[in-house]
Formats: sequence, structure tokens, C-alpha cells
Amino acid sequence: MIYLKKANPEDLEREWLFVREMPEDENGLSNTWPNVSRVDFESKALPSMLRFAEGRSLPEGYVPETFFFLWKDDEIVGQFRLRHYLCESLRVGAGHIGYIIAKPFRRQGLGTEGLRLTLEEAHRMVPEEEIYLRVNRNNPASLHVMLCNGGRIVSQDEGHYYVRIANPGKGRYPSVTEAREILAEAEQCNPGPWGNHSRTAAHCAERIAIRCGMCPDKAYVLGLLHDIGRKFGKRHLGHISDGYSYMMRLNYPDAARICLTHSFNEMRIEGYAGNFDTTEDETALIRAKLNEVVPDDYDLLIQLCDAISGAEGVMDIIERMSDVKRRYGAYDQGKWNRNLELKALFENRMHMDVYEAVEKDRFHT
Ligand SMILES: [Fe+2]
Repeated sequence: MIYLKKANPEDLEREWLFVREMPEDENGLSNTWPNVSRVDFESKALPSMLRFAEGRSLPEGYVPETFFFLWKDDEIVGQFRLRHYLCESLRVGAGHIGYIIAKPFRRQGLGTEGLRLTLEEAHRMVPEEEIYLRVNRNNPASLHVMLCNGGRIVSQDEGHYYVRIANPGKGRYPSVTEAREILAEAEQCNPGPWGNHSRTAAHCAERIAIRCGMCPDKAYVLGLLHDIGRKFGKRHLGHISDGYSYMMRLNYPDAARICLTHSFNEMRIEGYAGNFDTTEDETALIRAKLNEVVPDDYDLLIQLCDAISGAEGVMDIIERMSDVKRRYGAYDQGKWNRNLELKALFENRMHMDVYEAVEKDRFHT
């Protein structure tokens, strides 16, 4: 079986053996750790990969990058790296994705399959309309891999071809203008403070995204639509399945996903702060979809923004959670703690107090 797995401490032994054997530079993909010792891999190389994936402590001018290994059964056969978005040097240079297949495994279609799997990840993460790639002119095998995955050559220079692949992930949520219209129309169906709460969440998500290397438009739209299920009436848990189904009907799966994940920062239905007023089918839908999702940065971001957004503006996270607790009579302790963790997580990434980032004292809906 061929599959992609993020670099992780559990697979340390095999990851080390693979990275140790990778050349320092081959066809433009550099390896900072050729011949790395087991001790250095564990204490330096792997932690640096994990930091890069989270966008923590990046060197000046770098963007977040996730390191994947391509596995064939229980053996690592390649490495794929995904840069989360483009900066100017990547736009005219290496692009979003770099990869290498180990020599003994070349010419077996593994590069094509590995790139296909990496593109699936890219569709969820990359905000640009196309995935950018670059390949050396003297590497026809790798060019073939890109073309097999829908790539087209858009330019070339002495040493390289520049290839782009459409990103269908872009467009899995509406534009800012359309999202505003969807929210305004929904408010007419069920007026209430939830509309302005959503606008505050959108504002917060946008401000934090800008400082975390995430796409500000995507963050804004997802913040605006996370509670869109409220269009269909005053429901508690029901607003989640209503929102999910509504966004799926409009063919916006990323927005649908946020309708689902924003209320479950521990990814379990039991942590919901409110009444369980869903039908059996709706509950089953929520459970099934929650099981499928591995939370990404946007899920985490909207969970945090939901916890600091009031109808008039930004709220202190403790005040807002206490307010929900007062209204519903209880607040799951795990969910409470997790919200504080999320606040710390994004503050670490921004190197900034979250209230300062979202202009708590200045922003009003
Ligand atoms: Fe909300």
C-alpha cells in the first residue's frame, strides 16, 4: 500500500534512516541533514521539521512547510514537502512542492502517486488558485510526474521548467462578497445577535491569519459562515447539522466543515456546550463527519475565534466562556481548557497577545 504520512516522532527510526541517505542536493531538492546521526536527527532534524510545519520560529523569509514521507507498506520510499503558501521568492522559484524518491524505488510510478497524494493535502491548505512547481530541465522523469498530475508548463529558463497545476481546493468556500450576502440573507430568516457574533469571528480570524501565514480571505469567510446553520431557526446542536448540510448543498465543503468543527474543539460531540436537540439522523451525521476530520489550522482558528467573539465586538475568552456557561448551565471543562490552549497556540505563532492582534479595544461590529 502506498500512503503519505507527516513526519512524526513515532516513525523516528525509519525517518532517520531515510533522511540520512538523502543527498545534500539532488535536482534542486536540498537536504539539510545528509549523514545525520541518530542523536542529531532526534534532537535537531525532526524537531525542526515539526516546527516548520507549524510555522514556529521560522528563519526570516521562510513560510510554513509540512514534511511528508511516502511509505510503501512499512518502508519509506520518498519525501514530499509542501510549502503552505507562496512568498515572492517561492512564486518565481521552487513553488509549493518539492520531492524526492529514493533511488531503488524510481521508475515505479511512486513519484506520480506521491505527488497525487501531496496535491490532495495541498488542496486543503494552499490558498492560491494554482499549485506552483519547478523542475530541472535535465530531469524529464520528474517533469513527467508533474504532467501526469495535470501540470502544464507555463515558462522556462536556462535550467528549469515552471509548472502549474489547478487547485480545486480554491473555491471550496465562497468569496468574501458572496459570504456576506449569504449571512445577510440568513439573518433575515432568523434575526439575532449571532449575525454580528459571526462578523466579529470573521474579523478576528482574518487578523490572526495575517500574522500566522494563513490565507486571510479564507479565514474571514469561514469565520463569517461558521454559525450559518442558525439561518434555519433557534436550535442548539441542530445549528451544526443545519449549517453543514446547507453549505454542502451550495457545494462549499470547506465552509461545511467549519460549521461542524467550530463547536467541538476536542473533536467529540460530548463536549458540546448546549442542548442536544438533533434528530437521530442529524446526530449520526455529526458523529460520522467528526470522525472523518483531522483538524487543520483553519478548524483550530475558528474554534478560537468563536470563543472570543461577541455580538458587539471581541470579548475576553474567560468572560465569553463564562457567559456561555451562564446561559446553558454548564461548560465542558475539557473544552474550556482546550480553548485556552488554542489561545496560547496562536499567540505563540504570532509572538503577540491575541487581543492586540484582533484589535479588541478598537473593533466594533
Ligand atoms: Fe459561533
